[in-house]
Amino acid sequence: MAHVPFDQLNGEIWYDGTFVPWADAKLHVLSHGLHYASSVFEGERAYGGEVFKLNEHTERLHTSAEILGFTIPWSVEEINDATRTLLTRMNLVDAYVRPIAWRGSEMMGVAAQANSIHMAIAAWEWPSYFKPEERLKGIRLDMATYRRPDPATAPSRSKAAGLYMICTLSKHEAERKGFADALMLDWRGQVAEATGANVFFVKDGKLHTPTPDCFLDGITRRTVMGLARKRGIEVVERAIMPEEMEGFEQCFLTGTAAEVTPVSEIGPYTFQVGDLTKALMEDYTAEVTPKASAKVAAAE
Ligand SMILES: Cc1ncc(COP(=O)(O)O)c(C=O)c1O
Repeated sequence: MAHVPFDQLNGEIWYDGTFVPWADAKLHVLSHGLHYASSVFEGERAYGGEVFKLNEHTERLHTSAEILGFTIPWSVEEINDATRTLLTRMNLVDAYVRPIAWRGSEMMGVAAQANSIHMAIAAWEWPSYFKPEERLKGIRLDMATYRRPDPATAPSRSKAAGLYMICTLSKHEAERKGFADALMLDWRGQVAEATGANVFFVKDGKLHTPTPDCFLDGITRRTVMGLARKRGIEVVERAIMPEEMEGFEQCFLTGTAAEVTPVSEIGPYTFQVGDLTKALMEDYTAEVTPKASAKVAAAE
């Protein structure tokens, strides 16, 4: 089936407080957000009609904007309500949700203090980020050329569009070489994350993951750490040097899009898709499934 471009899908988009037809959700070419990357966004996922950790995502969106020096003119509650209404109006059950806020077009230059702040929320039906058959085999990652910047260089705690420039470059390069994604080191040369997901390793029954001091402390990352601890698995957050990957037995990525995705290869290092990874994949699926639909499924 031919891929339908995203600007040609059907339905509605919540845009600056109202629901508009999908094709009408446009912005002017002289928008500050487009020229200077003054925009922040979220990636959310609805399971059984409910966005997993919606409030945490919306709060992070607000915080991301504040870090970039602007305030979103809709409250967390208003955005949460708009998201739920959008899913209902679009009749979506398992979906991806993309809220975005950006500076408008009143001023065109590096400074844009007076520009109005706009916001949109779009949602669409969504399959797995990585192909399902690829997932259980474990995906292959390239080593990215670009590094996550020093927090003194870029506002790394914000989910700001500008920070994704090096992610797109890295993922494109990896895909050109036949890999599914790329692992990025940070400015110090330590293991950081993939281009849109956090990374975990398994060694001797323990989980090891880099301390998120210059990249996103993912909502999925924190969820999976909680699930691991519930199973009595020790989670070690620390600086991880790339050479250490030689001694790790398993590896997986976490993210709203990636969920828990096993990794079989990163550059010269190989990993098994082991029981601990598979157990956390299952725990995560159970965690994101709304309790009401889980009961229905169990009764069937
Ligand atoms: C660069 C990056 N790191 C990590 C994550 C994982 O974050 P989360 O689990 O909140 O989706 C994402 C996805 O939003 C991301 O884009």
